[in-house]
Amino acid sequence: MDGRVPTRLLCGCIVTGLFAVAPLPRCEATSPEKPVTSNKGMVVSVSEPASRAGAAMLRRGGNAVDAAVTTAFSLAVTYPPAGNIGGGGFMMVLPKPGMQPVCVEYRETAPAAATPTMFSLTDSRLSPKMVGVPGTVRGLELAHATFGKLSWSTLLQPAIRLADQGFSVDASLARSLNKVLKDDKSLPFKEMRRVYAPPSGKAWQAGDRLVQPDLAGTLRRIAQQGADGFYRGPVAARIVREMQEGNGLISNADLDTYHANLRTPIHGTFHRYDVYGPPPPSSGGIVLIEMLNMVERFGLRKKGRWSPETIHLMIESMRRAYLDRARYLGDQDFVAIPKRLTTKDYAASLASKIDTQKATRSLVLAPEIPIADEGTSTTHFSVIDKQGMAVANTFTLEQSYGARVMVRGAGFLLNNEMGDFNWRPGHTDKKGRIGTEPNTIAPRKRMLSSQTPVLVLKDGKPCLITGSPGGRTIINTVFCVVLNVLEFNMPLPEAIAAPRLHHQWLPDQVRFAGFKLDRYQDLVQQLRSMGHRFNPKAGRQGDAHSIYVDAKTGIRTGVADTRISGKAVAAD
Ligand code: DON
Repeated sequence: MDGRVPTRLLCGCIVTGLFAVAPLPRCEATSPEKPVTSNKGMVVSVSEPASRAGAAMLRRGGNAVDAAVTTAFSLAVTYPPAGNIGGGGFMMVLPKPGMQPVCVEYRETAPAAATPTMFSLTDSRLSPKMVGVPGTVRGLELAHATFGKLSWSTLLQPAIRLADQGFSVDASLARSLNKVLKDDKSLPFKEMRRVYAPPSGKAWQAGDRLVQPDLAGTLRRIAQQGADGFYRGPVAARIVREMQEGNGLISNADLDTYHANLRTPIHGTFHRYDVYGPPPPSSGGIVLIEMLNMVERFGLRKKGRWSPETIHLMIESMRRAYLDRARYLGDQDFVAIPKRLTTKDYAASLASKIDTQKATRSLVLAPEIPIADEGTSTTHFSVIDKQGMAVANTFTLEQSYGARVMVRGAGFLLNNEMGDFNWRPGHTDKKGRIGTEPNTIAPRKRMLSSQTPVLVLKDGKPCLITGSPGGRTIINTVFCVVLNVLEFNMPLPEAIAAPRLHHQWLPDQVRFAGFKLDRYQDLVQQLRSMGHRFNPKAGRQGDAHSIYVDAKTGIRTGVADTRISGKAVAAD
């Protein structure tokens, strides 16, 4: 099989395709966690205690949405860089096999007082002004009200316990906390420093306990009063106080009127699979389907997963779909989004203009966009239950620890999601800042996201549940994982561990995450000779906690991506 990455890559063997023999890159893929299999349900997330809490709800008779709500609230406790109640996200739900998936959209909104030109390019992202009206608590409430079985209060108990009694911090979280506390020594984020102070007074070590009594109090209020316990009353007042004492704009009315939405997902087909992703205000669904539609035409499997030709065609598809993201995408309640973007005909016309031998320069593709001279924290988890209800949920504070504004006395961080709007209308530059019209700021508008929680179905049944953090790289991480499984038949652990690829139109450069470029000079040289430019600092890309379901046996395989941390926990 072309897709079996690690063994093939480690053998250093040969790629097929138009190109002469290219030495295959030695894969610096992560070694995946041992997959977990079950014929019941499971939860796969970045945090073991959160996965355990979700799986426990399945064992109590809860469904996948119940487990997802518990996992999300638990992540708000056990994974503070991105798990949140002060941010927002997207939850894709397959209510049961044979039904249509639904997207619970709980993206943050701009405050009513926001204006298109409220930011200058030099504004700090770490300030109350960057905070969007949080969506998570209303979103989880809407998911529960629509699909849940167990009581709301039951679903919050594990998170309350984890906050009250504390949990053992793992090595990855200890590193992350030490980093953010060090970063912010000079900044006025006293409350965050107080809440995350290491027990030793020095630095966090794996095994230390993080106890969060203020957060437990807020969660208790939410358990008793529903989302109103967050958006109204004392918690809302505390959020507004942070705004008023900083330079933030969120008012009581912004919080009071915030609502989450049930939206129709973006749907596409890839070979004989149905792929569902989130609609705008996420760009994820449209961009993913556009890329899949393009590469479907090229028969990549025959060319080999790691051939220069496959990689070239993936990059060229990314380039074109990300340009459309900049051209057309924004909050669908404010902007008319062309329907053609996800059609096969449109992909055919784009694909027909791809030169199979040569990179297209990004700027050449968009002469109408004036070009001016001139982050990791989101988290994704996947859930399935015994009946085949499936959930893919991605949520975020935008950057790690968001705006780093900790709501005093309430124990949670606020997002800095306003940075996902196009900051300066008209200012698009080669570094990748986008200033196009559809995603400029307007009161109560939702900023464009790249979050791409995805459900892939085969004959109406769940087949692959995936998603990732990584800002604009998210869609490409999901693209790589989906192609690895559906086009190259890789087993899920290999599909997750494999190196990843990113191109986002601008900057006009490729990131190869998991390949050390200097070691794979022949492959890189062939791509360079086709005109591709590389960013030598690719780093880590994504964190795709995923589930695969075998169509014949129904056996679920959960794989935690180990690029950060994570655990698949079965409900057996
Ligand atoms: O919604 C978005 O697209 C971004 N706010 C996501 C940010 C992100 O993934 C950062 N971390 N890895």
